[in-house]
Amino acid sequence: MRQKIVAGNWKMNNTLQEGIELAKGVNEILKANAPKCKVILGTPFIHLTEVVKTVDSKLISVSAENCADKEKGAFTGEVSAAMVKSTGAEYVILGHSERREYYNETPEILKAKVDLALANGLKVIFCIGESLAQREANEQNAVVKAELEGSVFHLSAEQFANIVIAYEPIWAIGTGKTATSDQAEEIHAYIRSVVADKYGKAVADNTSILYGGSCKGSNAPELFSKPDIDGGLIGGASLKAGDFYDIIKAWN
Ligand code: PGA
Repeated sequence: MRQKIVAGNWKMNNTLQEGIELAKGVNEILKANAPKCKVILGTPFIHLTEVVKTVDSKLISVSAENCADKEKGAFTGEVSAAMVKSTGAEYVILGHSERREYYNETPEILKAKVDLALANGLKVIFCIGESLAQREANEQNAVVKAELEGSVFHLSAEQFANIVIAYEPIWAIGTGKTATSDQAEEIHAYIRSVVADKYGKAVADNTSILYGGSCKGSNAPELFSKPDIDGGLIGGASLKAGDFYDIIKAWN
């Protein structure tokens, strides 16, 4: 059966020292309170090595927030999937709406990143989700389907087993506006049906689909109670160990 997951996405927050302290804090809490779900810390590149060293790998996995769309070479400032993997990180977040919007990451670029991540033994947390205008035009289903088709549906079923999907409506990210649990469940069930159409029911049943967008301790239990919501990708509320744990414990 598919994994329940709570993943943090620190984004461009925390100095190295602050990040280590945060990772230590989460690790201490989870040592005392064994989580009932998989816990992932998504950190900037510079934190990966130290966070991997800081946390107990039986309790916490570590994720990058991006990787390059090229394998190696003269790409100043880029960080390859192989470099991410060499830190001990197990995951990479790809397709986040902030990367799509501010860094012009197209479906083709994301497809290249997904392929390189998997080729280097990373698992991918692949983000999809519609804008407010698209939701108001009732285009959300078409948008998420196209995002999957554009960057991950070329994978074999065996490769697709390494993909975690994160549904993040753009209008809910960092806005304090959460999708209602019914709204989220409706589209999560739709996403699972699209995966089933492509790869079959068994693969779809094994795919973890996370909700992201102003998820916090107060709404996580309600969201996670829905059959097709397998956890959360957490931005703001992952920046304090206690706030993050409040979401993790929604699975208790
Ligand atoms: P948020 O961000 O929890 O701050 O809304 C979620 C995300 O962008 O992954």
